[in-house]
Amino acid sequence: MVKAIQIGLGHWGFDWSKEVIPKVPSIEMVGYVDSNPEATERVKSELGVPDKLLFTNLEEAVKSSEAELAICTLRTEAHYPVAKRCLELGLSVLVEKPFASTIAQAKELVQLAKAQGRVLMVSQNYRFQPAPIAATELIGAQKFGPVNLVSIDFRRHAPSQGYRYWDMPDPLLADMSIHHFDLMRMVLNDNAKQVSCRTWNPPASPFGHHPIGVATLEFEKGTIVSYRGSWMSSGPVTPWAGEWTMDCSEGQIFWTSRDHFMGKAGPDRLSLQPRDGEASPVELQKLEFSDRQGTLATIARVIETGAVPARFSSGEDNLHSLALVQATILSASRGGDWVELAEILQ
Ligand SMILES: NC(=O)c1ccc[n+]([C@@H]2O[C@H](COP(=O)([O-])OP(=O)(O)OC[C@H]3O[C@@H](n4cnc5c(N)ncnc54)[C@H](O)[C@@H]3O)[C@@H](O)[C@H]2O)c1
Repeated sequence: MVKAIQIGLGHWGFDWSKEVIPKVPSIEMVGYVDSNPEATERVKSELGVPDKLLFTNLEEAVKSSEAELAICTLRTEAHYPVAKRCLELGLSVLVEKPFASTIAQAKELVQLAKAQGRVLMVSQNYRFQPAPIAATELIGAQKFGPVNLVSIDFRRHAPSQGYRYWDMPDPLLADMSIHHFDLMRMVLNDNAKQVSCRTWNPPASPFGHHPIGVATLEFEKGTIVSYRGSWMSSGPVTPWAGEWTMDCSEGQIFWTSRDHFMGKAGPDRLSLQPRDGEASPVELQKLEFSDRQGTLATIARVIETGAVPARFSSGEDNLHSLALVQATILSASRGGDWVELAEILQ
């Protein structure tokens, strides 16, 4: 069992407390922290957490428990200071995406975790889903030979689905596309070399920043990914991981994942279509711990055994996904000019 505290009990954080943490048996909760007492009160009244486990101060929570792990489910701007303090206090850290606001902050946290001998993981929950796992295996085994082109579409209409972050800078690239970028790296088993991106805010949009973007990404092994993401789409909604067409020399792999929308949760889907043949669905494996339960069970296992399981998104690994966010934002600010990932990671 890994003793853990959770910091950040807001909208998404409370969902972790209620729906995720209790379903991972290797975690024993020893504290819940939020600077806002209303948030800790909610954990008490709705989940029955006793007073002695509720804190408005991180130091006190760590002092009065024997926590080994901090589950940081705060807004992005609080990730760096809170994760840093947790590492300094000797805890391992699981932090929500996006890892940090800048690459410099993220690098500092990676170094600090190393110096402290602690585990630092970013909760890239989309990695722990059946379709991207199957796609990773199929691409790795060259099921249809080398990849010609990867096309990804993400479409949502934020105004009609209770979206709350109208003033968030880069609501697409930093908050949403980070999942897609991280999945590209996982499924292709490769890192990006350079990107070109344009973003914009369409007329009548309630967003303060750009909710639509189009990017071309070139990976180290030469694969080109064409990516289109939109929070202001009137088209059919895609699952959260987007719709992926991986066109290879002998056929296409099509997949989607995290089909949760308006209270419905559909299964992941993956189909194979040989060139000039029919598409046929592939039966996908069920995971013991999927999505956020997957990231939490994984860090618990790393802490307990020291083994590094598949899909472990360490802070160090995640620098490359965060760099894709920064590179696409920089390219968009330069009107779509190519940006080398090396420029961002240096
Ligand atoms: N992985 C996913 O699929 C997914 C989906 C939604 C949100 N998220 C991520 O979840 C994170 C949290 O989002 P949210 O909507 O819950 O935010 P939120 O604003 O609703 O909640 C943040 C909470 O943190 C508390 N807080 C802030 N600073 C603090 C500090 N220093 N110490 C203690 N508490 C502090 C606030 O009081 C608040 O209760 C974000 O990083 C977001 O990107 C991930």
